[in-house]
Amino acid sequence: MVQLAVENVDRVLDDNNGQKINVLEDINLNVGSGEFISIIGPSGCGKTTLLRLISGLDTPEKGRVEVDGNVIDQPDVSRGYVFQHGSLFPWETIKDNISSGLKATNGRNYDKKLVDHYIELMGLKGFENAYPHQVSGGMAQRAALARSIVLNPELLLLDEPMGALDAFTRADVQDVIQRVWKQTKTTMILVTHDIDEAIYLGTRIVVMTPRPGRIKEIVDNPLEFPRKRTSDEFLQFRRQIQDKLNF
Ligand SMILES: Nc1ncnc2c1ncn2[C@@H]1O[C@H](COP(=O)(O)OP(=O)(O)O)[C@@H](O)[C@H]1O
Ligand SMILES: [Mg+2]
Repeated sequence: MVQLAVENVDRVLDDNNGQKINVLEDINLNVGSGEFISIIGPSGCGKTTLLRLISGLDTPEKGRVEVDGNVIDQPDVSRGYVFQHGSLFPWETIKDNISSGLKATNGRNYDKKLVDHYIELMGLKGFENAYPHQVSGGMAQRAALARSIVLNPELLLLDEPMGALDAFTRADVQDVIQRVWKQTKTTMILVTHDIDEAIYLGTRIVVMTPRPGRIKEIVDNPLEFPRKRTSDEFLQFRRQIQDKLNF
C-alpha cells in the first residue's frame, strides 16, 4: 500500500542574484509502508530539498506530497527528521534529549521504559547523563536517532545522519539503523551520497542527478538480508549503481 506519494513535484528557489532556479523538477516517488528508500546523488542535486518537502517544512511550487492520502503542508510529529548534525540540544543530557519529545506530548507521565529501551538498543548505556559534546560523533547520532524513533513516527527521514562520521563509526550506526528499521517496521527514507550506505540499507535506491534535480532512476535492491558489504553480489550491484551515477 502506498504510504507516501510525491507527485509531479517542482521546487523553484531564488539564487543570490534574484534568478529563479529549478532545484527539483518533476519528482515522482511512491513509497509503501515499511520500505527503506535510499536517495543517492551528488551534492546540490536537491536531496535535502526533497526531504524537506516530504517532512512538510517546505511546500512545492508545483505538484504535491501526500501521506496516507492527505496533502502535506506542515511538519508533524508522525514524520521524524534526523539531520547530519545538530539534531540534539547541546544544553540537555543524552537522556533528556531522547525523552524531550515524549515529555512535550505526555508531560511527566512519559514512558520512561521506552526511553531506557532505546538507550540500551542504541548502545548509550552509561552515557545517559553526558552532554552531546561529551560523547563521540557516532554516539551523538545514535542519540539523535533514538530521540526521533522513540516518538514512534510513521515515516522517518534521515538526511545524511552518518555524513560526518568516520568509516568504522558509520558502519556501526548503519547497523543500528537497520536493526531499528527491522524491529519497528518504520518506513525510512535515507538521503546519502555514499553508494555503499545506500545499498547496504535500502530496499530501493533512488538515483538523482543535478541541475535541475531530477530522479534518474529508481532501482530495486536485489540483495537479501543479512547483507555483506564485501560479497560479490554487493560489489556487482554497486557497480550497477555507480554506472547510473556517472552521467
Ligand atoms: N533556501 C534556498 N534558497 C536558494 N537556493 C537553495 C536553497 N536551499 C537549497 N538551495 C539550492 O538548491 C540546490 C539543492 O540543494 P540541496 O537540496 O541542499 O542539495 P543536496 O542536499 O542534494 O546537497 C543547491 O543548488 C542549493 O544551492
Ligand atoms: Mg543535503
